[in-house]
This record gives sequence, C-alpha cells and structure tokens, in this order.
Amino acid sequence: MSSKFPDHFLWGGAVAANQVEGAYQTDGKGLSTSDLQPQGIFGAITPRVDGDSGIKDVAIDFYHRYPQDIALFAEMGFKCLRTSIAWTRIFPQGDEEAPNEAGLAFYDRLFDEMARYGIQPLVTLSHYEMPYGLVKQYGGWGNRKTIGFFEHYARTVFERYKHKVQHWLTFNEINMSLHAPFTGVGLAEDSSKSEIYQAIHHQLVASARAVKACHEIVPGGKIGNMLLGGILYPLSCKPEDVLETQRQNRDWLFFGDVQARGGYPAYMRRYFRENGIQVEITAEDQQALRETIDFISFSYYMSGCVTTDEAQNNTARTNILNMVPNPHLASSEWGWQIDPVGLRYLLNVLYDRYQKPLFIVENGLGAKDRVEADGSINDDYRINYLNDHLVQVAEAIDDGVEVMGYTSWGPIDLVSASKAEMSKRYGFIYVDRDDAGNGSLERRRKKSFYWYRDVIQSNGNSLKDKA
Ligand code: BG6
Repeated sequence: MSSKFPDHFLWGGAVAANQVEGAYQTDGKGLSTSDLQPQGIFGAITPRVDGDSGIKDVAIDFYHRYPQDIALFAEMGFKCLRTSIAWTRIFPQGDEEAPNEAGLAFYDRLFDEMARYGIQPLVTLSHYEMPYGLVKQYGGWGNRKTIGFFEHYARTVFERYKHKVQHWLTFNEINMSLHAPFTGVGLAEDSSKSEIYQAIHHQLVASARAVKACHEIVPGGKIGNMLLGGILYPLSCKPEDVLETQRQNRDWLFFGDVQARGGYPAYMRRYFRENGIQVEITAEDQQALRETIDFISFSYYMSGCVTTDEAQNNTARTNILNMVPNPHLASSEWGWQIDPVGLRYLLNVLYDRYQKPLFIVENGLGAKDRVEADGSINDDYRINYLNDHLVQVAEAIDDGVEVMGYTSWGPIDLVSASKAEMSKRYGFIYVDRDDAGNGSLERRRKKSFYWYRDVIQSNGNSLKDKA
C-alpha cells in the first residue's frame, strides 16, 4: 500500500498512569479513586487494608522501569507517547495549595527521558482517576469547588512542563461518566441522572478552564478533549431505529459538541427538560465553555448497534457500553466486536461535525498471548487487527480527514481498566506478570513489535490492504 500518512504523522502508543506506574504510595503520592478500585473501573470502592495490594499497586512498575520501556518504544521508532499525570502525585489530597515536588520531579525525569529519543509526550490531565481526598471531603465532581482544584492542578503542570509538553488532553473518555459515575466523576453508582449531569457539567467547565490556561501558559501548546468513540449503527433501516440511533450517538457526541462548539446543544436542553434533569448552569459557566479545544481525540475499539425492538435489546450485551451486537462482525475474546471500517466511518463523522484535526489516541486488541518454548510470542491476531484499522485510517485521510496521529493502546502490556486483569494484553512488548501478580516483570518483544517498527519506519507503506 502506498503511504497516505502525512510526513509528520505522530505514530506511537498510549498508556495511563494508574495502569502502568504502580508505586501507589511512593514519593508522597496520595490515594486516588483508582487505588480504591482493585476490581477495575466498574468495581465498587474497596477500603484499603495495609499489605492487601491490588494488581495496580505495582502494575508494570513503570515508575521505576520507564527508562528501559522508553528505550523499547524508541526502538520501534515512536514519535509520540501518550501518558497521563497522576493528579495525586502532584496534589495528594487534591485541595493543597503547594504541589508535591517529588511528584513533579518524576514527570520531569519521564519527559526528559522521552526527549532524549525525540519522543513527544501527549499528556492526559485526568485518566480515570482523581484524588480520593476530593471525593471524601467534597463529594467529587458533584461539588463546584472541584473545578477550582482541577484548574489549580492544570495550571501547575502547564507551568512546570510548558517547555517539555506541547500536546495535552483534559479528561479521558469524558462520556464514560454516564456508565461509570465513580470512575468518571467520583459519584456513587446509584446517583440520580441530575446528580451525574451536574457533575459532568462541572467537569466540562473545568475542561474549558484548562483549555484557557493551556493557551495562556504553554507557548504554541495544543489541547484536545478525549471521547470514547462508541459509534452506533441502526440494527435495521426502520425509521424508529435510525432515529433512536441518532439519539444514542448524541449521548456521547454531546460532550464533543460542548467542548468543540462552546455551549450546550439544543437537543440536550430538550432531553433535560423531558427527563426532569435539573442542571445548574451559571452565566459564568456559559462564558467559560466558550473556550474550545484545538483538536478532537478519541478511543476506538468497536462499534455497536441500536434497536427499538425490546426482544433484541435483551440479547447478549457483553462489551463496555452494552451495545447490541452486530450480526456482521466477529468479536474479540472479551466480546468486543471488531470493525475496522467503523474507524473510517467514525473519523468522517467527527470531521464532518467539527472540522477540527483528529487524533486517534487509543485503538488495539486485548487478547491472551502465549509464550512459546523458545520465548517468542507470535501475535498475528494483533498484527491483523491493527493492520486492518490502520488501512482504514489511511482511507479516511484520503477522504480528506485531518488526522494528527495514532497512538495504539497499551504498546506495553498493562493492567486492563475494565476488570484490572493482566491477561488481557494489548502490547507489542510482553510483561511477565499474571492476574495474581506473579511474574518477574521482565519485558519481551512480541512479533508485533517488529511489525509496528516497520509500519512506522515506512510511514504506513508496509501496511497490507488485506491482512
Ligand atoms: C479505554 C480506557 O476505555 O479502554 C483505557 O481509556 C482502557 O484506560 C482501554 O484500558 C481498554 O479497556 P480494557 O478494559 O480492555 O483495559
């Protein structure tokens, strides 16, 4: 395939602090909401008991092993690495005035190491975690005060890293709060719709304030949002199914609409009105929301279907958003339906809607890997998945969509978010650790490691039209 990728395309990978770093109490770090969810992002809060460590407490020990890992990413030719800053390393409880210097110093070391290899950081301010102190003392994002605490944190890291980090993201998969309120906004799972949308509103205002701060502080800096790109198709061409699909797509596009267009769309006001949802939106909030993002980023793993037929609605719902399965698609071992063409479709939908550059900041296949007797790991299934998706990215670029880059999810095996498993692996690099926490943490190159190195080196020329 001849390359359709632009010359400065940002090839790389994406990780998140709470899924790789470990060291959950090192150098003054405070407890985050993630530290209290040893079962994953849908799990209930579990009180910490000393010595009773969840898998994330060590994760893959990136906190100590990052020099070796960055060297491996550099060997693959990464231009970009997406990671997040753990808010609790900088403000352990969340409401302190002065930041924790040891936490700031860690990210200095990390970004400096990346710079040695010319790898650009793409930094998420909040990836599925917040200081637990803010949940306990203030009720998380349900409290307006959290906007101020977040802005203070954002301004602190912009000031500190303004010469090291050019590309920023505000909240990871901001639309997930509708499905996992504790993870997203620090609210109890049984919170009412009004409470959840109020907390989401505070987060949207905080996101816009961070955008403003980034523009003020980081010279030439660009900041985007981050959506879970869960594109939905109608299961049939029945007009009611098509309309319901549009409604459900708006459940998540709403977040992009506010962040990219600078205010609440009319369809949302109707939804609030008809469902008795009360959200306090002040004139000052509306003013703040006018500060819009520079680019749209999103994750893409699967598509799903929508139907108004109740009987079909009750069929197997196995994936992250409980989508109705598509009869034309195969699924991963975790029931996530594989749809490379859906990525081209989604890129076009988002570009038509926003006319802003797009960044694919997560995509990949979670699968069980087998280490052969000779130590090799032949993950052709992962190569095929990624090849087919990247071919569709190239098609979208040819359609005229402006795509800044592609960071595959979990370039090194890490702890999965939904169930906190190690056995659901996404990496080009294998990490010796199992679900019970046994293993040497040794790193090993998989077959896909060499494949991705060739893709980057050839700027996509080595991709095959059909895997
Ligand atoms: C996204 C998250 O939802 O999907 C990541 O931003 C997560 O944090 C990824 O790891 C894959 O999900 P999982 O459950 O397979 O880890």
